[in-house]
Amino acid sequence: MQGKKNLASGFLFLAGFMVYGFILIYLRDFAPGKEQWIAEYGIGKHFESRLAHVHGNLFAFINIVVGYLLLRLPVSEFSAKGISWLTLIGMLMPIGILAEIMFGVPPALVLVGGIAMVAAMIWFGLAALQLDLTAKQATVTKDRG
Ligand code: HEM
Repeated sequence: MQGKKNLASGFLFLAGFMVYGFILIYLRDFAPGKEQWIAEYGIGKHFESRLAHVHGNLFAFINIVVGYLLLRLPVSEFSAKGISWLTLIGMLMPIGILAEIMFGVPPALVLVGGIAMVAAMIWFGLAALQLDLTAKQATVTKDRG
């Protein structure tokens, strides 16, 4: 059974990247030098920080959705494992942006995470095409009485 890892890390990363939103508020509204920060909205660190916030929240949410669906849908164990791990590895993308901003790490993590997330989405799409939902549908209908 796959999906629990994605659900748990999805919620935790979502919380983390939401908290990071408060740091963005501080930088924009309260920090010394906030005028310069606002002036650089579309470039450099301000732009990249927003990129990390937005992708972090989005990718965390995708992990929640993927995790839930893997727990619910009869995707084969092989595909479920691959999709689960690739979606988790996708989180390296926003983490990589943060690492770039804070430590000047080269963008390898961003690329690996981005490619993994795209691959996971393609894989889940193809797996969904192959789903046989007739048995599942029958169970759901029976459960609902
Ligand atoms: C699911 C949760 C969230 C999502 C999907 C989300 C999404 C976004 C998006 C799309 C932007 C970019 C807007 C733009 O530049 O056009 C943004 C920016 C921003 N968000 Fe969030 N956000 C989330 C949670 C939060 C939370 C909890 C906070 C803080 C309490 C926050 C604070 C901010 C701030 C301050 C900016 C502007 C950053 C800047 O100065 O460039 N966000 N968010």
